[in-house]
Amino acid sequence: MTAQTSSMGLQIVLSRPLITPSGHTERASRPAGSSITVRRFAPGDIERVVGFHREIYGSNFPGFVWSEQFASDFEQALKTALHSPSEGLFVAESPSRGVVGFVWVGVSLRSHCRDRIVGVIKDLYVIPEHRGQGLGRSLLYEGERFARAHSATRVVLEVTTANTAAVALYESAGYHVERHTMEKPIEGPA
Ligand SMILES: CC(C)(COP(=O)(O)OP(=O)(O)OC[C@H]1O[C@@H](n2cnc3c(N)ncnc32)[C@H](O)[C@@H]1OP(=O)(O)O)[C@@H](O)C(=O)NCCC(=O)NCCS
Repeated sequence: MTAQTSSMGLQIVLSRPLITPSGHTERASRPAGSSITVRRFAPGDIERVVGFHREIYGSNFPGFVWSEQFASDFEQALKTALHSPSEGLFVAESPSRGVVGFVWVGVSLRSHCRDRIVGVIKDLYVIPEHRGQGLGRSLLYEGERFARAHSATRVVLEVTTANTAAVALYESAGYHVERHTMEKPIEGPA
């Protein structure tokens, strides 16, 4: 995962073991009582998802500065991920509004850890009008299913501590803090 392709903030790293496909991970791809479905990302979804980019990063990187170049890099990274077997992209689609959210998960190798194959949740987003309906959770679990299907035994993600909705979602889904990424400004004369 590169910082450029991840929307997650740099404050805390959460992780959870993927031991058995039980509990919440058993929930269907269609949130209960909803006509919204979760399906694989298709090339035709790129433009819509790139449109989410600014808000995703704005809410996850304090001091985020948007640029055309950054958005273009994100688009390119999505296109590359679409053709990579170790990258999972899924969208939530409403019959009336089209794509209303997405998740991006990658599977990578950590040769120095007991859980060598890990899923990395790189992006998770639901449009404001559809929040609080269980879609974020459904997308997260779809990402976890992809990771498990690719032999991952743990899933990790980064989230900004100030993003309380996302932190609450991850904690309720079984994630806990494993590492802190710390920052401080060092402006001033060298
Ligand atoms: C974070 C985000 C994906 C959550 O999506 P969502 O569809 O609203 O989440 P859900 O409805 O599935 O909520 C699942 C759980 O998360 C928690 N949660 C979600 N939103 C919350 C909020 N605003 N305040 C407190 N808890 C919240 C709750 O525990 C909730 O479970 P409950 O409804 O049973 O109480 C969405 O707010 C979003 O897209 N935010 C902008 C992008 C972003 O920050 N992405 C995460 C990057 S790290």
